[in-house]
Amino acid sequence: MEPSQTVFGVIGAGTMGRGIVQWAAQSGMTVRLHDSGPGAVEAALKSIHAMWDRMVSKDRMTAADADAAKARLTVVEGLEGFAGCDIVVEAIVERIDAKQSLFAALEPIVGPECLITTNTSSLSVTAIAAGLERPERVAGLHFFNPVPLMRLVEVVNATRTEDGAAERLSALVTATGHHPVICRDSPGFIVNHAGRAYYTEGLRLLQEGIAEAADIDRILNETAGFPMGPFTLMDLTGLDVSGVVMQTIYDQFFHDPRLRPTPLVPLRISAGLHGRKTGEGFYRYDDGKRVDVPEAPPRPGSRHAVWIDPRDAGGDRVGALLSEVGLTVEGGERPGADATIVVAPLGADTTTTALERGFDPARTIAVDTLLPQAFAEGGRLTLMISPAGDSDRVDGLHHALHAAGRRATVIRDSAGFVVQRVVAAVVNLGSDIAQQRVGAPQDIDTAVRLGLGYPAGPLSLGDRIGPAKVVSILDAMENFYGDGRYRVSPWLRRRAALGLSLLTDD
Ligand code: NAI
Repeated sequence: MEPSQTVFGVIGAGTMGRGIVQWAAQSGMTVRLHDSGPGAVEAALKSIHAMWDRMVSKDRMTAADADAAKARLTVVEGLEGFAGCDIVVEAIVERIDAKQSLFAALEPIVGPECLITTNTSSLSVTAIAAGLERPERVAGLHFFNPVPLMRLVEVVNATRTEDGAAERLSALVTATGHHPVICRDSPGFIVNHAGRAYYTEGLRLLQEGIAEAADIDRILNETAGFPMGPFTLMDLTGLDVSGVVMQTIYDQFFHDPRLRPTPLVPLRISAGLHGRKTGEGFYRYDDGKRVDVPEAPPRPGSRHAVWIDPRDAGGDRVGALLSEVGLTVEGGERPGADATIVVAPLGADTTTTALERGFDPARTIAVDTLLPQAFAEGGRLTLMISPAGDSDRVDGLHHALHAAGRRATVIRDSAGFVVQRVVAAVVNLGSDIAQQRVGAPQDIDTAVRLGLGYPAGPLSLGDRIGPAKVVSILDAMENFYGDGRYRVSPWLRRRAALGLSLLTDD
């Protein structure tokens, strides 16, 4: 499908409809727009025209191109105006009854070749198509907000979508410079399904009192390279919106514990703390600007020599850093009588690690060494002690790091720290999306990178860390919590056992 030869219908002129219209008309398509709300299309037309005028004034579009795009866009009063369209996309209210009756009314109007598509983000495309004469020509065309800038489009094959329909839609999307990924109809498709891991594991950390929301956000941003922490993101999207998505996807997967939300979000919603738009969510806002509480500097605790367990990966990095900040690092097979014992477990907490290894829990401090960024300039170390830990020692170590300009956060004892837990959950869920054949492995990575802005897709992220390491983290966590939330996806376990990349299809 060539954009310039395509007649493209858009139903719904709200946030998404406007973005879709702008993208389609700018790409050369002939666009027809309809909305049943009073004054809705007029308002949309005004805003889209104003957008093009602004682009012209900023030299991002020529005046001739803007005029041509305006000429290609027309408003249609009723659904009859969609006769002769090649594709129609609906972006109306997110209600199944509304979408089903709209499609039933539209079907006899459009020609037999017309593809009828939906921009739904949380409903089943298969269910929307049910009841039509020819559900084979219905597919999902799921855009992201703002459409002209967010290049990803999920092209959804519903259970009865005919062969070739998704490929035709994909070819059109590609020709516009956007990036399509074909996926199967499945709750949340790829992106909104994959995104659950980051939010729900972040929330679980908060619920367990491992660290404050701002600490979790800082650690994930500065150490794991996620552009925004989960709490910053939820505040931005609005807890009312994120909370519904979390609950809906959990329900649609029949309460798979990997997707389990926490009561923290509904509680905040009940209290009217919806995020930035209401002035408070996990953070407070003053005139839309976040009021950040500065981190309290560490207390100057006592300084002891440190002994680093040589069995742990990354121990040499910890040793180098601690000597650099002026601490004495002991050698030897066993710790000296007064030494602070540093361990770097995978998926285990300080308590379990100290007891298993026969170390004094009071003197043991755990450091997360999973990601090298924690040790780089601008990175952040995560330290934790057991409930029996000597807080004076961890303060002393934290203070030495802080005095040398190194960032660190001390969290409460947690199987898997913060980064290990969240990253392992992201990799595991991405792997299971591959296992469920919702999309091709490479497409899962692309969709997550473009749709969620993660530093890498979940499968590549797992490859970078090493699939076997991710499995170790999850196994230790499942053992500790006895919770199927951390059960390893078969996709991940097989590839880890075989030493294969997580991008390997079968
Ligand atoms: P919106 O509320 O901004 O706009 C919906 C528009 O549809 C309104 O102008 C309304 O008058 C019109 N409408 C409602 N029923 C209609 C009908 N029967 N016939 C014609 N027009 C009708 O909603 P928004 O945010 O644009 O969402 C639209 C769809 O896109 C929903 O299915 C939503 O789940 C999905 N979506 C939304 C995203 C977002 O970030 N807002 C992202 C991706 C998908």
